[in-house]
Amino acid sequence: MGDRQLAKQEIERLSLELERHNRLYYEEAQPEISDREFDDQLRKLRDLEIRFPEFASPNSPTQRVGGAPLEGFTQVEHPVRMMSLDNTYSEQELIDFYKRLQKQLDTEDIPVVIEPKIDGVAVSIVYENRALKYAATRGDGQTGDIITHNMRTIRRLPLTLPEAAPASLFEVRGEVFMPNAGFAKLNEEREDIGDPPFANPRNATAGSLKQLDPKITAKRPLDLIVHGFGKLEGFAFESQNELYDLLRNCGLPAAPKIWNATNLEETLAAVREIDHHRHELPYETDGAVIKVNSIASQRQLGVTSKAPRWAIAFKFEAEQAESQVHSIDIQVGRTGALTPVANLEPVFVSGSTVSRATLHNQEEIERKDIRVGDFVMIEKAGEIIPAVVRVLTEKRTGNEVPFVMPDNCPACDTAVTHQAGEVKVFCPNPVCPEKVRRQLRHYASRGAMDIEGLGSVMVDQLVDSGLARDIPDLYRLQFDDVLKLERMGQKSVEKLLTGIDASKSRPAWRFLFGIGILHVGSTSAQSLMAHFRSIEALANATVEELEEVDDVGTIVARAICNFFDAPVNQNRMAQLRELGLPFESQLPDPSEGGAETSTALADTTWVITGTLSEPRDVFADRIRAAGGKVTGSVSAKTSYLLAGEKAGSKLAKAEKLGVKVVSEEELGTMIGD
Ligand code: IVH
Repeated sequence: MGDRQLAKQEIERLSLELERHNRLYYEEAQPEISDREFDDQLRKLRDLEIRFPEFASPNSPTQRVGGAPLEGFTQVEHPVRMMSLDNTYSEQELIDFYKRLQKQLDTEDIPVVIEPKIDGVAVSIVYENRALKYAATRGDGQTGDIITHNMRTIRRLPLTLPEAAPASLFEVRGEVFMPNAGFAKLNEEREDIGDPPFANPRNATAGSLKQLDPKITAKRPLDLIVHGFGKLEGFAFESQNELYDLLRNCGLPAAPKIWNATNLEETLAAVREIDHHRHELPYETDGAVIKVNSIASQRQLGVTSKAPRWAIAFKFEAEQAESQVHSIDIQVGRTGALTPVANLEPVFVSGSTVSRATLHNQEEIERKDIRVGDFVMIEKAGEIIPAVVRVLTEKRTGNEVPFVMPDNCPACDTAVTHQAGEVKVFCPNPVCPEKVRRQLRHYASRGAMDIEGLGSVMVDQLVDSGLARDIPDLYRLQFDDVLKLERMGQKSVEKLLTGIDASKSRPAWRFLFGIGILHVGSTSAQSLMAHFRSIEALANATVEELEEVDDVGTIVARAICNFFDAPVNQNRMAQLRELGLPFESQLPDPSEGGAETSTALADTTWVITGTLSEPRDVFADRIRAAGGKVTGSVSAKTSYLLAGEKAGSKLAKAEKLGVKVVSEEELGTMIGD
């Protein structure tokens, strides 16, 4: 067999294997291989595709992490028009809908299915010969934008369908959304690096699907639920329930729970139950969708010009609460960005008491015309982040005071600056105590330099005592000086100094992320170090050279240049170099093949349980680095259970199955730590 033939076979094998692991990971939460092994196989596949582009399929797993960016969107006409749903806002309206069904179908009890209405973006996904052909947005219902490149990044979307699936054109309909937890984390990261946050998960989803560069979309935590079909030939099913079974059998992500009701009473009960529990769902829902179960009845009922007569949306009341703005504080972020935050009369909304809400910036305050003393409606974006929705202007007394951002930093009184392209104002003082406090907290945080012993309380003490006025000061701390601080024992000082010293051997990208350049998050820090290999080279790069790096756009590139151009930063970086911080990337050059891995735990499968001395992730990383696999639950395939204190059911199961139980120390010995 020739080289080409072998390559073709290997590409096919790797593609199938990677998609299988993808399913194990995302659908079954039972990964068989480590993330690292997955990445290694993916890299192998990518290398082969580069060498033999004629065998590279657009549905290759390599495309999930983001293929080439598009120049613009192409439109497609939907095979079947995408309709919308009529809305009802009260139980009476829902009862009226049911009565219409009774009349038209001439029966008393009509079986229906009820499911949460997902507040996301509607999509049409088309398979042909069981392979993903394209995916498109709803658009005007007739024509939508093709967004296949972005949809492929959603791991739960199968790129090929199993034998059970229709081979003819199969158009699936569903909703792309961003789970609340992922949304909150994304916004937190964005605010942290000075990027504007999204207003809610739906906006974040729409924004992510509109990207031309799928590498950006790949980093957004998007998910998918399918709930219907458009075009489908030669496949008969009798009910909505059977459709969901078909979707599930095709490996498509149908809703995990659907309510069934056989009469009006049960329908109302199901809607009430969904409303009652909606805040527990992992995604935002703005209502329930009620659909007639029988497909024959659906046909009989037909459609109006814009919506089916066999389905309706019951809209829940947005969970909002009234509060009052008592005052507006200014927070100084680590980039120096000043953020106005409203202090509110405490109110209970979506499961917890809210007393503060970020107002983002002056523009936002003006747009909503929020004044101190105003009564306002509060809502939680993505069920988590408190936000002021609107002002109750009818409640104004005339004593409300408009708010203007201060001209000086509230922490150090330095005149604020406006930066080109930024809606926020900044404190430019490099030694502003508030800014330094935040910078140090970020620098020491787990995602950055991960310095043990340097939590926020310790940072506060160091800053307040004047022992740390900047990052380099950390590396010059003297044992006796720290010991003199209040409530400080020998042990904590030792721990702190050891932790700080250990940070010198962190990877260079962590250091780069840690020093806190505006708009540079941990992923861009990794891309930047992989590309430039040294901070020196990065510091000397031009805007154009920086823009060559994945996920570095003009704004980020400019921010990097501004950072390294500033004399204070040049001085700070020179000190840090002198102090022995990592300025060179030690990771193998990605273009030079795979990384060396230890094999001490090769072919072993691990489960971690109980309370350990460090977060479980840390141990999982160690096990993987030594070639072991880490899975979520104990089974006959588990080789070892790493058990900490208070281990419960997993320990019991391991003992029952005769799985070897090891302690932290024993693991250390096994991997030669
Ligand atoms: S069924 C003919 N089920 O809501 C449309 N739609 O406001 C039948 N939506 O366009 C749609 N969750 O994009 C259905 N569980 C669900 C849904 C759902 C969200 C969206 C859908 C539709 C829009 C109508």
